[in-house]
Amino acid sequence: MSQRTILLVDDEPELLAVNRETLEGCGYRVATVGNGSDALDFLSSTPVDLVITDLRMPKLGGRELLEEMRNRNIKSEVMFLTGYGTVESAVECIQLGAADYLLKPFDIRQFVTKVEKILEERSLRRKTQGQRGGESELDRLLDLGAALRSQRDLKALVKEFLVQMRETFRPDAMALFLREDFEPGLGKCVAWGPMLRSNSRARKWFEAVSKRLMESGSPKLFDSLAVNNGTGTSTVSAMVCPVMDGTGALGAAVIIRDLKRGVYALPSLQMLTVFASQAASAMENLSAKCRLSDMNLEIITSHVCSVEAKDIYTKGHSERVGAFAAQLGREIGLPDREVQCLSFAGILHDVGKIGVPDNILNKPGPLSEDELKIMHQHPVMGRDILSNIHTLKDLLPIVYHHHERIDGAGYPDGLSGDSIPFLARIVSVADGYEAMTTDRAYQQRRSPDEAQSILLDGAGKQWDEHLVRAWCQLMERDKMTC
Ligand SMILES: [Fe+2]
Repeated sequence: MSQRTILLVDDEPELLAVNRETLEGCGYRVATVGNGSDALDFLSSTPVDLVITDLRMPKLGGRELLEEMRNRNIKSEVMFLTGYGTVESAVECIQLGAADYLLKPFDIRQFVTKVEKILEERSLRRKTQGQRGGESELDRLLDLGAALRSQRDLKALVKEFLVQMRETFRPDAMALFLREDFEPGLGKCVAWGPMLRSNSRARKWFEAVSKRLMESGSPKLFDSLAVNNGTGTSTVSAMVCPVMDGTGALGAAVIIRDLKRGVYALPSLQMLTVFASQAASAMENLSAKCRLSDMNLEIITSHVCSVEAKDIYTKGHSERVGAFAAQLGREIGLPDREVQCLSFAGILHDVGKIGVPDNILNKPGPLSEDELKIMHQHPVMGRDILSNIHTLKDLLPIVYHHHERIDGAGYPDGLSGDSIPFLARIVSVADGYEAMTTDRAYQQRRSPDEAQSILLDGAGKQWDEHLVRAWCQLMERDKMTC
């Protein structure tokens, strides 16, 4: 086999040197550059099998490098090395078509294993392409792997995996057995076809085989097995393949077909192995993303509880502002990502009030000038508190600007009109409406109709006119009573 070429891209010279030495020791030809821009120059003149790149670098980052490589039709594989704070970006890059990623600091054996796996799959794909000419069945499977990686939740991913296995291998029955601690919400077995669904003996037997193979990490082909099909005995051909990521087995896929419809041979098992490997990588990425979201939610909830514990009148306020802002976002047709952003930003918009003294926060009468100055600091403090959480970075401008006014008389920056971030203008309408329709230290609640009329009076002055109208329209239509 010809020597494989790997390009290492990183702005940390020490890391480049260690990785270079390791990979050269494994027999690879290795080149190094310090940023994405130099990597593109190198790739324009030299064929490379695998690019291993950092995400954050001067001149051109890893994500932009991957995008530019795809634009220029450079078909080297790409793997990211990244610090924990950027794992979400790395997951996004996988969705853009990178082969894998590894978190820094990493175990050097895991690094080498990932590199070997990526290059092995590349070599297998090229070999099959050469044998069959043009796009091979295996290529199709690898494309399906990309489709798997684009799924947004694990249930959808597992479903897609089963659908694709059924279309590709035309089985009479199939199952995916999952490691019990992998994702409790998914259950430990998803089965299709009567030979497995209604035959618990066969299912248990395949489950036991799957567990054994998950430990050994090897797939297995069964040429001829007798299975009770409910009305008699069928002789079947079967494949069992562990679904492995870099750290071990997540589960195992089982494919069964009546021998009369054809026997599964080694190329099928080989395809199933590659497909299972794509599924494992997609599952692991998605699972990492879910863990991050859960962590963010816990952080959000704890911050909000701290604020609401201080201010008896605002209990539940933040959650309602989040819900209203998301409703308004949906009403005007924003994409899901921005609607989710609004929901989080609404929940967190007043988190900076944790820095405002209780006697000011709960004062029944109007605030003095000095007290107002302190109160007006809460968007600034909110932004500062959240700025340490990388995954919440999109929320910062919303939290910081939620008290700006269209006429420029708001705070903290006195921005006006369109210069106020759009999502902050949405939260401002939601915040205003919620504050008016609940009891406060300084006022009694107003009816939804009164609040609507105050919003309309302030449209174009305090609030964005277009958004106020959209909110009123939504309230009218849904006959909301809040
Ligand atoms: Fe506020």
